[in-house]
Amino acid sequence: MTSPILLTGATGYIGGRLLRVLQNAGHRVRCVTRRPEALQCCVAPTTEVVSANILDRESLKGTMDGVEIAYYMIHSMGSRGDFEEQDRRAAHNFGAEARRAGVGRIIYLGGLGETSEELSPHLRSRQEVAEVLRASGVQVVEFRASIVIGSGSLSFEMIRSLVERLPVMVTPRWVNVTAQPMAIDDLLQYLSAALDLKTDDHAIFEIGGPDAVSYGDLMREYARQRGLKRLMIPVPLLTPRLSSLWLGLVTPLYSRIGRKLIDSIRHPTVVRDNAARQTFPHIRPQGVREAIASALGNEGRE
Ligand SMILES: NC(=O)c1ccc[n+]([C@@H]2O[C@H](COP(=O)([O-])OP(=O)(O)OC[C@H]3O[C@@H](n4cnc5c(N)ncnc54)[C@H](OP(=O)(O)O)[C@@H]3O)[C@@H](O)[C@H]2O)c1
Repeated sequence: MTSPILLTGATGYIGGRLLRVLQNAGHRVRCVTRRPEALQCCVAPTTEVVSANILDRESLKGTMDGVEIAYYMIHSMGSRGDFEEQDRRAAHNFGAEARRAGVGRIIYLGGLGETSEELSPHLRSRQEVAEVLRASGVQVVEFRASIVIGSGSLSFEMIRSLVERLPVMVTPRWVNVTAQPMAIDDLLQYLSAALDLKTDDHAIFEIGGPDAVSYGDLMREYARQRGLKRLMIPVPLLTPRLSSLWLGLVTPLYSRIGRKLIDSIRHPTVVRDNAARQTFPHIRPQGVREAIASALGNEGRE
């Protein structure tokens, strides 16, 4: 019997969608989660659900036995404490247990952002997690993505809340920073293609769709597709801190993570090398228009 694929973050946005893709492809999956009850609805009979908290090394023991490939799809941005410290500790625990269990590859999804630039705490932490995982000695295939467009994705839901609620919007500077968004389906193709990647070394792939656009462009395109008239008034002096407080008032549901996310929009998050295109030529990411149209069309089903 083939070894199970270990999946963390299956109760989250990306891990949850990856679980479906892996199950539909016939893989045996072992989900490691703090909330096994939340997965009862969605797992195939061949999928195991194991209860563990990645922050608790003891609870991780044995969860990776017999596993060849493990997906690391978690972050602590929703927690009340110091998320950087928690993410460092979680990655350390996960890497150490993976090493002990003889796991051959960890597949990790982090964030795009030039290392030479002064990164925000959020993006710095996403890159630090990859470094901690690599330091375990287990091979790491790291993907770095910018905004993921799909119904339920935090960044897309922030755009949706703002555009749906505010006919007139004051737009701070971060709204004009360039990103390279990608559709959730394209991201899932990269994540599953990494299972068959032929390499014994660590790998880093920057991934994104064909369009380099700003949050403002995404909001305008979202409004266009929804048939909403929206007015954006640029206010360059509104700092990320103030604008994240403002976001908390407008979209309270997402405020804790949303603030960290907005604080991270300081520099462009665009693809700077084409290793992903060369390594996975069969994946042809869709543009922003198509991605938003799918997100709107798949609402509640994605
Ligand atoms: N969404 C995007 O736009 C985007 C873009 C680029 C990169 N990414 C990256 O993709 C990855 C997944 O993001 P997401 O958007 O899917 O996040 P998400 O929806 O917030 O899900 C986070 C997951 O992490 C789990 N988790 C957190 N701490 C844990 C712990 N101590 N033990 C076990 N599980 C824990 C959560 O489980 P609980 O249900 O127990 O809380 C949840 O399943 C992250 O690395 C993120 O940086 C996301």
